[in-house]
Amino acid sequence: MKIIKAKDYNDMSRKAANIISAQVIMKPNAVLGLATGTTPIGAYAQLVKWYNKGDIDFSEVTTINLDEYKGLDGTHPQSYRYFMNEHLFNHINIDINNTHVPNGKDEDSDHACEEYNRIINKAGGIDLQLLGIGLDGHIGFNEPGTAFELGTHCVKLTESTIQANSRLFDSIDEVPKEAYTMGVKTIMQARKVLMIASGANKAEILKESFFGPVTPQVPASILQMHPDVILIADKEALSLIE
Ligand code: PGA
Repeated sequence: MKIIKAKDYNDMSRKAANIISAQVIMKPNAVLGLATGTTPIGAYAQLVKWYNKGDIDFSEVTTINLDEYKGLDGTHPQSYRYFMNEHLFNHINIDINNTHVPNGKDEDSDHACEEYNRIINKAGGIDLQLLGIGLDGHIGFNEPGTAFELGTHCVKLTESTIQANSRLFDSIDEVPKEAYTMGVKTIMQARKVLMIASGANKAEILKESFFGPVTPQVPASILQMHPDVILIADKEALSLIE
């Protein structure tokens, strides 16, 4: 694993965007695994800036997002499809048909998950997977205790995740209780993984994930077994890691 220390959030975002754009330059038809959350917003904004300068071409890129709330349509402002359109896809020359997010409106979990696995396989797997990390060590919506060998599956969100995400909804009752998520197996099959983290509140979980035991209780800890992981984090997030 490679750990890159960033000065601050902006520096982390630029460094991450650099790695993503290098991937697209090296392989114009790259398959990018993308993430939502507050952490990647700056990296997406940087990619949009470089696209506007003519430095990156997304016309052949395919994207596969980690997760989506079950029950939310892509037009719902808190859906992850909406987030991706707003922060990235609407501002670059990607073919929207090549951007994939699990179908939150499909009430049939087995069908929705099988369909997503089919999309991932058809794309030939993921070249570069961008990840944030939850305070409980979740990656995607793979919460503590999730089996490492799962592909796309439907999860019941933990109270702590519902609580953390409620800041984005009008009330906690509106936060969906379930989500579709790419499984740890699929994340581990990505050829390269790029995790980004910022802020002191991520320090403890980063230390646990990368220097503690590998256990489903800390889903991100499995990344210790991945052959090509880069962690870019700011000083605060790395404060417990020497
Ligand atoms: P955050 O979420 O980027 O909003 O901190 C990370 C995550 O839950 O994966």
